[in-house]
Amino acid sequence: MAKFTHHIFICGNQRPAGHPRGCCDPSGQGALRERFKKELAARGLKADVRANAAGCLDQCELGPTIVIYPQAIWYGGVTLEDVARIVDETIVQGRILDDLLIADEQLNTKGVKKPPA
Ligand code: FES
Repeated sequence: MAKFTHHIFICGNQRPAGHPRGCCDPSGQGALRERFKKELAARGLKADVRANAAGCLDQCELGPTIVIYPQAIWYGGVTLEDVARIVDETIVQGRILDDLLIADEQLNTKGVKKPPA
């Protein structure tokens, strides 16, 4: 079996309402991961790209958060509407989406919210 080209780790962590750090999947439905799975399948990419459920990625204030490895591309504020273009542009074309990118200097900055794009 060929190795995967990308692993997309999708935070599905839940915390109680009102938690100061928030969380990436308040409903616990895993909808973001399900959308990635659907969009990957629709493009015939299931054998090459994995959409993995992840626990807290420790970028909670910037969430919902995903990280794509081995490229180490971090995206924050990801919505269901972003998933198709992440697959089409980042996974397929290798293009970084600046409006979603968590810059290196923003990573691991607890309590700091992502500025609006
Ligand atoms: S809850 Fe998603 S990164 Fe922490």
